[in-house]
Amino acid sequence: MAVIIPVAGGKGGVGKSVLSLNLSVAMAAQCKHVILCDLDFGGANLHTMLGLKNNQEGLGHFINKLESDMSALVQATGIPNLHFIAGDCLFPGAANMDFFTKQKIMRELSKLECDYLILDLGAGSAHNQVDFFIMTNNGLLIVTPEITSILNAYSFLKSVVYRFCYRSYSPKSEARKILKNAILQRLEGRDYSFEQILNVIEEALPGEGRRVYELLRQMRPRVIMNMGRAMQNTEMGNRLQQLAHNKLSIDIEFIGYVPYDESVQYAIAQRQPAATAYPDSYFSRSLQPVVQRIYAGGSGILPALQDAPEDFADIVKEFYETKAAKGQHS
Ligand SMILES: Nc1ncnc2c1ncn2[C@@H]1O[C@H](COP(=O)(O)OP(=O)(O)O)[C@@H](O)[C@H]1O
Ligand SMILES: [Mg+2]
Repeated sequence: MAVIIPVAGGKGGVGKSVLSLNLSVAMAAQCKHVILCDLDFGGANLHTMLGLKNNQEGLGHFINKLESDMSALVQATGIPNLHFIAGDCLFPGAANMDFFTKQKIMRELSKLECDYLILDLGAGSAHNQVDFFIMTNNGLLIVTPEITSILNAYSFLKSVVYRFCYRSYSPKSEARKILKNAILQRLEGRDYSFEQILNVIEEALPGEGRRVYELLRQMRPRVIMNMGRAMQNTEMGNRLQQLAHNKLSIDIEFIGYVPYDESVQYAIAQRQPAATAYPDSYFSRSLQPVVQRIYAGGSGILPALQDAPEDFADIVKEFYETKAAKGQHS
């Protein structure tokens, strides 16, 4: 079975696609069979970075039921050992797919035969990104040294932890209700940590809080700092690590520091991966230790999660509607 590596970042423009692509190229050059998949619905651009024409069937065909065989979407890239699944550029609107379509994509992707399946995700912390990210316990998170990137990465991890806990409980369970309420109270300004929330669940439902806390402790997102310009940048990384530990009860692991390097932009302009066009650049050489750590991390743990077709936005809407209705009655 393939090792699945979702690549997320919370923020746009931090280098998710650049790193998904170039790490894939670096692994393919070491004889690993890699499939790179463009899951940035609405913003797919890997085909451009690979120099491929935007006329091949991609995930948009699968989502719109024009193709049911995921393996038929796998195309050659011209780079030995590297294959590609295009996104939805021929089909705008695929970003609004429902939970069960997304689940089908995840199931079919997991069946593909290769050594590494790299999933380039879109920006933001919506369920489309988060559900793909929690296919494994050790997805990759790309950050840059900017405070906005660090804060977006933290928001992303918060959504990951919430969604992971929520989907660790069965639909309609009491634990899901308690969790939902606690999160909604956070919207009202009460800053509970996830440990506190799981303690409340444990008190109400002995064993249930503890069980999910232990699952949560196995989460190990791996972080790459991209576009670094100075070693002091690692300070920002430490802040993220502490926040995740204290507030979210998860430990993140830093697996790489990739410098800002203009060869990346020259390569994009030439529609080639920097790792092939400029193999001796500072950027390309910095990928090697990252790739070694990715090999060492293996496939991680694949969490067994329950269905959750409802979106958090729906839950928030329901909360405010109920509140408004109560306000009218009192
Ligand atoms: N290490 C780097 N050095 C220099 N420029 C970079 C680097 N990584 C990314 N970039 C630049 O940032 C832009 C955005 O990267 P991209 O991978 O498309 O972001 P994302 O997929 O996270 O939205 C790229 O077009 C490239 O110009
Ligand atoms: Mg991208």
